[in-house]
Amino acid sequence: MKHIATTHLAKMKERGEKIVMVTAYDYPTACLVDDAGVDVVLVGDSLGMVVLGYETTLPVTIEEMLHHTKAVVRGVKRALVVTDLPFLTYQTGPEDAIRNAGRLIKEGGAAAVKLEGGIEVCPQVRTLVSAGIPVVGHVGLTPQSIHVFGGYKLQGRGQQAAQKLLADARALEDAGIFCLVLECIPEDVAARISEALTIPTVGIGAGAHCDGQVLVLHDLLGITSQLKSSSGEPVHPPRFVKEYSQLGKSIRQAVTQYSKEVRSGNFPAPEHCFPSTEGAATSAATPAGSPTPRSTPTATRK
Ligand code: KIV
Repeated sequence: MKHIATTHLAKMKERGEKIVMVTAYDYPTACLVDDAGVDVVLVGDSLGMVVLGYETTLPVTIEEMLHHTKAVVRGVKRALVVTDLPFLTYQTGPEDAIRNAGRLIKEGGAAAVKLEGGIEVCPQVRTLVSAGIPVVGHVGLTPQSIHVFGGYKLQGRGQQAAQKLLADARALEDAGIFCLVLECIPEDVAARISEALTIPTVGIGAGAHCDGQVLVLHDLLGITSQLKSSSGEPVHPPRFVKEYSQLGKSIRQAVTQYSKEVRSGNFPAPEHCFPSTEGAATSAATPAGSPTPRSTPTATRK
């Protein structure tokens, strides 16, 4: 099956087709979201919070991004795989950017990288693009700058902040990004940026007028809302999240039921057991009166 190319996203914008992007961090979810037909799979550095349990994305390392990128790449057959450059792997200059992005492409197998920031990261974008590495930009609420913002707050409010976002977006487009993520900004500001740019925008908490949308997989599956923070408080997903499933509840129910059945001796049942070896049947393996166990499965796990 042919992979979606970076250039395909610009064609989608031209045709007025919405781009579907979602995060994935491991092999099984990568297979599932790809099968579902998304256009872009993002190995976000949100993995630090979503699957590694960090408080922010700041501790995420290039090795962690590589580890998860490789797993996702193995699962994706069709979608475009974009992976995040984590905190301080590119802000420190074009040389660091190229070394780290190069690893995500060469060793990780991603097709493109994403980095956060506006005009200040344009030298890095130019260097990456001229080396043949496609780049997605990310402005608005950029989680790697959480301590500058003082929390996960709406950005781009007011005339001046909106103008700055538009200037950043234009500068990034001129520097060569092929797509821009707009996070947590007012809908009208996102609409203005989307209209002003030739490249597509993908919004998260940026309203309905972006050229596409992205959500964190564990948010849309209803897992995040079932978790507790390190201080034991329930986690409240942001307002822009829509839960399309209640997987967190389903996981808890399934594992509670499994625990009950193990403790009561109801699992495993005879149909989950292998028959005794020929000629060595004992009453312990197939107790009198119990159903005969199914034959040994032909497909076993490696
Ligand atoms: O890390 C991430 O998952 C992201 C998306 C929220 C856009 O950057």
